[in-house]
Amino acid sequence: MILIDGKKEAANLREELRKEVSSLKTKYNKVPGLTVILIGDLTPSQIYVRNKEKSAKEVGLKSEVIKYPDSVEEITILKKIYELNKDDTVSGILVQLPLPKHINKKKVIEAIIPEKDVDGFHPMNVGNLSSGYKSSVPCTPLGCYLLIKKVEPNLSGKKAVVIGRSNLNGKPMTQLLLKENCTVTITHSKTKDLKGECLKGDIVVAAVGIPELVRGDWIKKDSIVIDVGINKTEKGIVGDVAFDEVSKIAKAITPVPGGVGPMTIACLLKNTIECFKRLQS
Ligand code: GUN
Repeated sequence: MILIDGKKEAANLREELRKEVSSLKTKYNKVPGLTVILIGDLTPSQIYVRNKEKSAKEVGLKSEVIKYPDSVEEITILKKIYELNKDDTVSGILVQLPLPKHINKKKVIEAIIPEKDVDGFHPMNVGNLSSGYKSSVPCTPLGCYLLIKKVEPNLSGKKAVVIGRSNLNGKPMTQLLLKENCTVTITHSKTKDLKGECLKGDIVVAAVGIPELVRGDWIKKDSIVIDVGINKTEKGIVGDVAFDEVSKIAKAITPVPGGVGPMTIACLLKNTIECFKRLQS
């Protein structure tokens, strides 16, 4: 069994990115900049944002976090985004989700110019990804994709099962796997015989937010299992996959924590650098 070490892969990717930032600095006499907008005081969001900032600095990016209280008005956020859109020192803008209820997520996402949309959430980037054109790709599925490719470089013809249909994970994951010529089945919490569907997968990506949903007898031998879940339970943080059971069957599996999570942040840095390069050309 291969335990896919997301921490190690993310460290390798960060090292590559650090070198790239250094050569971009020589070439353009400036470095890519990432600006994160954080609204409210949700603890998980604060932890994510702190990790993003730390990693960005580590690879040599210019990094800035702008914080607002929960009560901030939508127009204040939109005006800040318009300002950042025009700021030449900012290559990537990320508004940390979830947002307070009184702020319209769609409006906020669409306010960021697609060229600086490091999350790949803007409809222009979503459309470009689904049409197979160049686009920003959401960080979590991009991280999953890179981990899968490490284990199995040739995915052509493989059967992939994606559990979860969110805009953040399931849908973009599907597009990335399709681009690799996988036969992709998108499943979700309402799918009938989810176990039967999973059993067909050479690759199973679980991104549904149900603790330890995927059991040992849901997975066929030699499959690659990617666990996107981060669920708080009485026994601590667990994924969407019952790790102890599935790791006895699968060819390769990501742990939680230490699997997809570290790659997500490394991919955000990668996307920021990609945005910078596209903005220069
Ligand atoms: N909150 C949880 N994951 C994400 C993400 O990938 N991007 C943003 N903007 N917010 C998040």
